[in-house]
Amino acid sequence: MSAWIPGLEGVVAARTAVSRVDGEGGGLWFRGVPVETVGRVGFEGAAELVLGRPLVGLGEARVRAWERQRALTVGGSPMAVVRGRVASGDWSAVEDGIAEVAVAVAFAARADVPRPDAALDHASDLFRLARGRLPTEAERIGLSTYLATVMDHGLNASTFAARVVASTGSDAVSAVTAALGALKGPLHGGAPGPVLDMLDAVGSPERADAWVRAELDAGRRIMGMGHRVYRVRDPRAAALEGAVGGLHTDRLALARAVEGAAERALAARHPGRALRANVEFYTAILLEALGFGRELFTPLFAAGRVVGWLAHVEEERAVGRLLRPRAEYVGPPCT
Ligand code: COA
Repeated sequence: MSAWIPGLEGVVAARTAVSRVDGEGGGLWFRGVPVETVGRVGFEGAAELVLGRPLVGLGEARVRAWERQRALTVGGSPMAVVRGRVASGDWSAVEDGIAEVAVAVAFAARADVPRPDAALDHASDLFRLARGRLPTEAERIGLSTYLATVMDHGLNASTFAARVVASTGSDAVSAVTAALGALKGPLHGGAPGPVLDMLDAVGSPERADAWVRAELDAGRRIMGMGHRVYRVRDPRAAALEGAVGGLHTDRLALARAVEGAAERALAARHPGRALRANVEFYTAILLEALGFGRELFTPLFAAGRVVGWLAHVEEERAVGRLLRPRAEYVGPPCT
């Protein structure tokens, strides 16, 4: 009889060929390819890598998703809108799943979403649907790098949720809806907004050291720093920091100053525990530089991660065994 492990830390609950996460060394690979390079192959290239097969008709799938979703009225927070729109779908092809999430994100961003252009690449069209204009080349690269970089990350909570649903023999719509619900939680998909709040509060690079020290003295955490798995800098931080380079933002110098100050202060206070920048830190800078409001950061995360969810759904189906762990009973004595 094995004992309960809170958070299931260290428990192996699946086998996957989609991504490998090396927390000690700071590496992330999609089917053997380092995450630092996947952004260069664009959304479609990264998605084909993660799925292990070509995408067929993704542009047409966006048009179908738009035709279906434009008749819907779904209220609530942007993530509730995405969840509701996706949940009401009836699709099975991965292209449709990817398209449904992208179109739902666009409807969470604006009421008057233009008709998708099937001839565009996915990142350009998603930008256009959500922002109402075509991206510049730097913006296209920025968004596709972001979507590619966050596409998969081992057995994270939303991917686990998708696999549990898939293991019951349920459909992909239900698996993706469950994953969206998991991603909606602030412990999983919700840190990039607070990173910007922090940068607003710091104000200028020369204030970074004093601000970080005061924050830690007050017992608060520095947003965008530390990670459950990584014991070094999150490799995705470098990929995203690089993608910010081509965009207009006056935040980068401030962000680097805050990151450096936080690294130094956290190293002094936790000598045995490396607390470095995580994916959220530069996600915040990148998505803001792309002109997206903070409320759209988690929906955009979903637009990339949906590819990983669908790859894991296929893997779990191939296993074909219901995921059904045990609970340790701690209630009143049973007579
Ligand atoms: N700022 C200040 N202190 C931090 C910290 C941070 N960002 N992250 C961890 N610590 C401290 C904890 O207070 C703890 O100190 P203690 O041992 O004196 O209690 C120690 O480091 C270990 O932290 P722990 O909670 O065990 O780490 P974890 O692996 O459970 O947490 C996070 C990982 C991501 C939840 C955590 O680093 C955090 O809260 N980061 C800020 C929020 C964030 O960026 N989230 C996005 C994640 S992608």
